[in-house]
Amino acid sequence: MAEPEEKRRDVQALLRRIWAAIVRYRRMVVAMVGFSLLQVICTKLPFMVIEPLLTVLDESDDPVVAPASVGPIEELGFTEGLRQWFSQWFRDFANDLCDVLGLAFDSAGMPVVVACGFVTLCCGIVGSVTIYMVQTVSRFFAYRVVADLRCELAQHFLSLPLRFFGRQRMGEMISRVTNDTQVMQRSFEVSADNVVVDPLMILGNLVIIAFYFPQALLVVAVMLPLMVIPMYRQGRKVQKRSSKSLQALGDTTESLNQILTGIRTVKAFQLESERMREFDQTTVTFLGRTKKVLSAKGRSIAQSFIGYQIATAVILVILGHTILSTELTFAVVGVIIAPLATNYQHVKRVTRAYNVMRESAGALAGIETILQTDVDAAMVGGHSISGVRGNVELRDVHFSYGGKPVLQGVSLNARAGQTIALVGPSGGGKSTTLDLLLRFHDPEKGSILVDGNDLCEVKLSDYRRHTAVVSQSPFLFNTSLRDNISCGRPGATQEQVEEAARAANIHDFIVEQPDGYATMAGERGTNLSGGQMQRITIARAILRDPAILFLDEATSALDTESEGVVQAALDTLRKGRTSFVIAHRLSTIVDADQILVLVDGRIVESGSHDELVAKNGVYKRMVDKQMRPDAS
Ligand SMILES: Nc1ncnc2c1ncn2[C@@H]1O[C@H](COP(=O)(O)OP(=O)(O)O)[C@@H](O)[C@H]1O
Ligand SMILES: [Mg+2]
Repeated sequence: MAEPEEKRRDVQALLRRIWAAIVRYRRMVVAMVGFSLLQVICTKLPFMVIEPLLTVLDESDDPVVAPASVGPIEELGFTEGLRQWFSQWFRDFANDLCDVLGLAFDSAGMPVVVACGFVTLCCGIVGSVTIYMVQTVSRFFAYRVVADLRCELAQHFLSLPLRFFGRQRMGEMISRVTNDTQVMQRSFEVSADNVVVDPLMILGNLVIIAFYFPQALLVVAVMLPLMVIPMYRQGRKVQKRSSKSLQALGDTTESLNQILTGIRTVKAFQLESERMREFDQTTVTFLGRTKKVLSAKGRSIAQSFIGYQIATAVILVILGHTILSTELTFAVVGVIIAPLATNYQHVKRVTRAYNVMRESAGALAGIETILQTDVDAAMVGGHSISGVRGNVELRDVHFSYGGKPVLQGVSLNARAGQTIALVGPSGGGKSTTLDLLLRFHDPEKGSILVDGNDLCEVKLSDYRRHTAVVSQSPFLFNTSLRDNISCGRPGATQEQVEEAARAANIHDFIVEQPDGYATMAGERGTNLSGGQMQRITIARAILRDPAILFLDEATSALDTESEGVVQAALDTLRKGRTSFVIAHRLSTIVDADQILVLVDGRIVESGSHDELVAKNGVYKRMVDKQMRPDAS
């Protein structure tokens, strides 16, 4: 029954996590175990008093109502002695109790009957408190563990290099954080108390059985493998299948993500039925795989049940045989029957808890894959810098995506305050150059110097504080317009926000809204036009007051009317900062200090607009093409 290495690793990872949580929330765990123990005592004690009860009831047929005489304890076996001692002690306790309560009975058995009722009632009251505590504490523990895991995942996403997200499907990532952790939460929630209470209950039952009928323990020892082996074998399947089922659920979420993010395209191109077919398909796969998980779980419980019933049958036969050979009294049988009858419930719950653990291990596998992805090395280390003036130099920078060269020896030198325009055919590497300047990636060869410091050796947070980006597709968070602007500089005052909005030509629009600056941007800014969104992001960048500014085709997605307003806002923004501008429309960059023409990852021409036009090369041809009346 060798288990594949990776599955064992997943189980170990889960156990490590649970152990860490136990240490972290030890007070909760101690409370949980303490209350569980109390719960077991409250449940088992009523079983224990059955024997004295049945004995007195048995004796009541007898005309002689004196308590059964008990031989000196040391003459009996240990368990027999203890039993007799308990029986005797309980009778004394019953008499004392009736004295205290002021009750007197003709029948000598009645105090025991009253005491049984009293003990059961007390156990009921205390037990209900313990059940409440165990249920709430254990479930809350489960929620905490999973909430921590979710936070860890979110934190990890924020620390991962940008490269990671290029390869991932967003819906699947969301599914990992929601569905996978949800499976863990649900399973923990259902079984956290089972893991603690039920093994203790089984132990309690075994102790009772051992006291009154030790032979049965042998049978238990034999039946254990009958129950454990199917549980273990099915558990492995549960783990593997739950992992697969969650993958399918990830596909479903991804499919939904595609529908929602692409809804305009879906509607415009009448792709509804096609999208729905794909969604249905992923759902069918998910259901199919889930059925297999459930089947393994069901089989596990069913097979342990057979093992359990075989053992119970054997015990009953031995018990009957022993009674017939008059070694046992009916009172003892009464005591043993209850643990025997209830034990299966506990065994079933333990089996379920085990399945749940394997299911969680399967869910954790997908989560661990993400957590084990290396965090962005650029985000840690580096030496602090107090400010950025904005002198930027690229020295023979090379960069590639998966072996495909994108930048092949790019060099440039920008003095503080200059505007550098990057132009050239699509796919030439312009955006990639900005990505490197923002340190989303590091050059594979060559270096980037900011104020003479190698960018790779500077503390990233110090550097990014002095940069801002306005890109082709503006992104607004689903918060107020004010927050969308002020996130550029945390702690900015309302006056500063408004000043930035004025400079970005968006203030008037904002105050016209019923809620003014408190207007919600809507999911991805759906309540605003492209130009309005863009001006919000420009206000954000203005407020940030960066030393180095990056504009990646900031106006290319806009119509000509809003382009004019946005362009004016951008010109304000650019003043006094080192600006790297990628522009499709060359008319917007004629006044740039340097224009670099990037073709296939190489700078083929550089200079001012006039110099490049005079050169009569690639740039001149691009200008001519845009000047033609039929050009866009
Ligand atoms: N995340 C990425 N993964 C793989 N290849 C990429 C990625 N981003 C860009 N590329 C490739 O790098 C090249 C340069 O892209 P880019 O810098 O966006 O060009 P430009 O902005 O000049 O149009 C293109 O060939 C593109 O296919
Ligand atoms: Mg680009």
